[in-house]
Amino acid sequence: MQNSKKFYPMISQTHDIPNQYRVSPIRLNQYVCDGELRTWDGDTTPVYSTIETMDQEGNLGPTLLGHVSKMDRTKALEATAAAVKAFDRGKGDWPTMRVKDRIKCMENFVDQMKTKRDEIVRLLMWEIGKNLGDSEKEFDRTIDYIYATIEACKDFDRKGAKFSKVSGVRAHIRRGPLGIVLCLGPYNYPLNETFSLLIPAIIMGNTTIFKPAKLGVLLIGPLLEAFATCFPKGVVNVLFGRGREVASPIMSSGHIDVLALIGHSTSATALQDLHPNKNRLRLVLGLEAKNPAIILPSADLMSTVTECVSGALSFNGQRCTALKILYVHKKIKDEFLTLFAEAVDAAVFGMPWENTLLTPLPEPHKPDYIQSLIDDALAKGAKIINKRGGERSKNFIFPAVLYPVTKEMNIYHEEQFGPVIPVRDFEDINLPLDDMAESNYGQQVSVFGQEARELAPLIDVLTNLVCRVNLNSACQRGPDAYPFTGRKDSAVSTLSVHDALRTFSIRTFLAAKDNSMNKAIINDMLVERQSNFVNTDYIL
Ligand code: G3H
Repeated sequence: MQNSKKFYPMISQTHDIPNQYRVSPIRLNQYVCDGELRTWDGDTTPVYSTIETMDQEGNLGPTLLGHVSKMDRTKALEATAAAVKAFDRGKGDWPTMRVKDRIKCMENFVDQMKTKRDEIVRLLMWEIGKNLGDSEKEFDRTIDYIYATIEACKDFDRKGAKFSKVSGVRAHIRRGPLGIVLCLGPYNYPLNETFSLLIPAIIMGNTTIFKPAKLGVLLIGPLLEAFATCFPKGVVNVLFGRGREVASPIMSSGHIDVLALIGHSTSATALQDLHPNKNRLRLVLGLEAKNPAIILPSADLMSTVTECVSGALSFNGQRCTALKILYVHKKIKDEFLTLFAEAVDAAVFGMPWENTLLTPLPEPHKPDYIQSLIDDALAKGAKIINKRGGERSKNFIFPAVLYPVTKEMNIYHEEQFGPVIPVRDFEDINLPLDDMAESNYGQQVSVFGQEARELAPLIDVLTNLVCRVNLNSACQRGPDAYPFTGRKDSAVSTLSVHDALRTFSIRTFLAAKDNSMNKAIINDMLVERQSNFVNTDYIL
C-alpha cells in the first residue's frame, strides 16, 4: 500500500536528509578549453532542484544547488577553434596517435572519474530527482561502458593489424576519425547517455566540444579537471550555457563534422539547419519515442503488470525507452486494468535518497503539462482508472492510468516523458500494428504473451516496425553491448559499445599494388615502426 505520508508532504525538510546526501551551493564557473581549466567571469544562471527545503529565513522552496556559467558565442567559438586546432585537418597529435596511446589517456580518465562517484551520484539525485539506486546505476554503468569501449577499441585495432590482397592490390584497412564532434546529451541521463556519445567519439581520434544538458549540469563539474589533464590540448572542450548561445554559433561556424545529440528533435533540426555545409555533417541522434506494450490474451498477467509498471514508471516515465502507451486485448482488458491500476497506486513516492520508484519531477512545468494531457483526455472521453491518478503537489503528479484512449487525444500523439499511462484496447492485432506503422516513431516495443504460434508472426512484423522487440519484458536500452537505435523520427545511427565506435569513425585504408617496390616500402614502415596507421602491432 502507498504510504500517503510520504506522498503528501512532497518536501524534504533539511533535518530529514541524511548527512551524506546534503548539498550546499556550488559555483561552477570553470570550463575546459584547449586543454586548460579556465574560469568564466561573466553571467551565471542559478541551478535549482525542485526538491523543496527550508532556506535561512525559514521559507520552504526549491533548493538552490548553485550557479553555472552562462557562456556566450565568443567562448563557443574559442572552444571550436581549440577543437579544430587539435584535429588540425587530420595532422593533430590525437587523430594520428596510436590507438594504444589513446587508450592510455582514456584509462587515466576513467581512473580519475571513479574517485568522483559519491559527488556525482548526490548531484544526480538533487539535479534531476533520480533515485539513489538508479543514480548509482547510472554512474557504474558509465564506468563499465568506458571499460567496454576500451576493449572494443582494442578489438577494432587488432582486426585492422593485417594486410589483405585482392586483385593484386594490398590493403591495410582501419577506422579513422571523422573530425570535430559536437556532443549534446539529455537531462534524464546527463552522465550515461552523454558519455555514450562522448567516449567513443574521443577514443576514435575525433576532437570534441561538449555542452551538458539543461538539467544535470553541476554533476559535470567534478570531471572537468580530468577532462583537461587526461587528454592532449583541445581534444575535449567543455562549455556551459544555453543551446542558443553556445551550440548555435558552433554549428553556424561550419566546423562540425558530427552532431551527436540525444534529446528533442526540435533542437536536432534547428542545429542541423544552422550548418552551412550539410552534406558533410554526420548525425548521431537519439530522439523521441512512443514505445507501446502489446498485451495478448495469453500473457501472464502478474509478470506483465510488474513489467508494465516499471516500464512506464521507472524514473517517473522520463526515459526515451519508457512504455508510453499500452494496448490490451479485450479478452483480458478488465482483469489487466484492475491489477494494473492497483499496482500503479501502490507505487511509492519519496525523496531520491529514499530510493522510491516515484520521485520529484525535475522540470518545474512538468506537473502542469501532464495535467493538461490528463484534462484533454478526460474531456474527450477517457477516464482515470486508478484511484490516485492525478493527485498533485508542486513538484509531482501521481501517475494516471487513462482508458480508453483514442486518436483524438493529445496523449495518444505526444511523447509524455512523465507519469501518465494511456491505454487502448484491441480485438484485431492489426489495430496496434497499424497505429505503430502510422506513428512517427519506431524505437522499441514490448509484447506480452505465451503462445509461440501467436507470437512468431507478430515478431516478424514488429521487427520491421521498430528496432527491438522485447518479449515479456519492458523496453530498455541495455545491455550496452546490444544495438540501440530507432526507425523513422526516433534515431539516426546505431549506438552500442561496438556500433558507437563505428558510428564515430570511417573506414580508411592504404592501398598498394603488389609489386616489389611497394613491398619494400611497407616492410620498412613496419620494421622501423614509422607509421602509427600502418602497423601490425597486436594490442593485448
Ligand atoms: O532515455 C533513454 C535511455 O536510453 C533509456 O535507457 O532503457 O537504460 O533507461 P534505459
